[in-house]
Amino acid sequence: MEEVSILKTIAREMLSGVLVLDRGGKILYANPFFTRCFSIEGDIRGRRIRAVMGKSGFLKAVEGALKEAVEDGWMAEAEGGEIEINEKDRFFKIRIVPISRDAASGVMLFLRDITEEKRVEAIKKDFVANVSHELRTPLASIKGYAETLLDGGMEDEKTLKEFLGVIDRHATRMSRLIDDLLVLSKLESHQMPMVVEAVDIRELISSIAEGFKKQALDKGIRLELSMASALPSVLSDRVRLEQVMVNLLDNAIKYTPAAGSVLVAASVTNGTVRVDVRDTGMGIPSSDIPRIFERFYRVDRARSREMGGTGLGLAIVKHIIHALNGRVWVESTPAKGSTFSFTLKTAPHASV
Ligand SMILES: Nc1ncnc2c1ncn2[C@@H]1O[C@H](COP(=O)(O)OP(=O)(O)O)[C@@H](O)[C@H]1O
Ligand SMILES: [Mg+2]
Repeated sequence: MEEVSILKTIAREMLSGVLVLDRGGKILYANPFFTRCFSIEGDIRGRRIRAVMGKSGFLKAVEGALKEAVEDGWMAEAEGGEIEINEKDRFFKIRIVPISRDAASGVMLFLRDITEEKRVEAIKKDFVANVSHELRTPLASIKGYAETLLDGGMEDEKTLKEFLGVIDRHATRMSRLIDDLLVLSKLESHQMPMVVEAVDIRELISSIAEGFKKQALDKGIRLELSMASALPSVLSDRVRLEQVMVNLLDNAIKYTPAAGSVLVAASVTNGTVRVDVRDTGMGIPSSDIPRIFERFYRVDRARSREMGGTGLGLAIVKHIIHALNGRVWVESTPAKGSTFSFTLKTAPHASV
């Protein structure tokens, strides 16, 4: 294969855009990735970039670079330049270099789609901001109450006890938050390998529910189970699945007012076991549902905090179920109740 055809193949197959323009802005070459990026149809060789791209951030950047290259001889000495543009919700990084030492002959552009990088960057920034905020709130309370006590509040034993109780509650919430953050971070960085085995889900649900009996009773909530007696085992990591059930049951009881009920049902459907945690609680407005599994997303931040929540429970649930190749979702009607459901594959040779 001669060099030209090798280079052509590379340009055609590479996952970045390549565009070559002459000094007047006429297109000498555009690779398929480039035309796909901007949804350009047909052969555009020989046409002017201005006519093809229309008014856009990209065109502005290109024309600016061309002008500099041709008029000011900017690129004759320079190595070229790199710019970032935002085009219809997508972000691109463009590297512009002269075709040859003689800048007047035109420019080559290499275009990389960095939308995903930007998105991840934004999520990270958001996350750090959220964590800082979540930690600062209880810390500010702890400091406030401690200072009040030091300023003489200690003399009254009743105040002392009350304030120490508040301090203790906030400290507990902070440590719970840090525990949840560590779990999430380990799940996300795959540092916590799943130990997937056949798990008797019937037995697991019964024992977790048993642990919530008192909490439900104290709140006047009926906690019921409805599971087939011959439920097959599921493919899961036992400890992680326990965590899923704890998080869902904790929420169901927490967000259901007194005299309500929580029902855990498990059934078999096409090779999977489906678990539903149904409550007759406050429900979730439909506008919040798409985001409810996001980290720190809550319908009512203040109420969640008041109840000692970290806002990470459902994010952990989603992570675990997805890592186990299951599905998880919620259906809810405000003031009527919510049903959180997930599915897990049944273990092979499990009797149905
Ligand atoms: N069963 C439920 N009923 C009503 N709202 C719920 C239920 N489960 C979760 N939510 C809503 O989803 C939010 C996120 O839940 P979660 O991630 O467990 O955080 P937390 O319970 O710490 O607030 C809660 O703050 C609440 O607004
Ligand atoms: Mg929760």
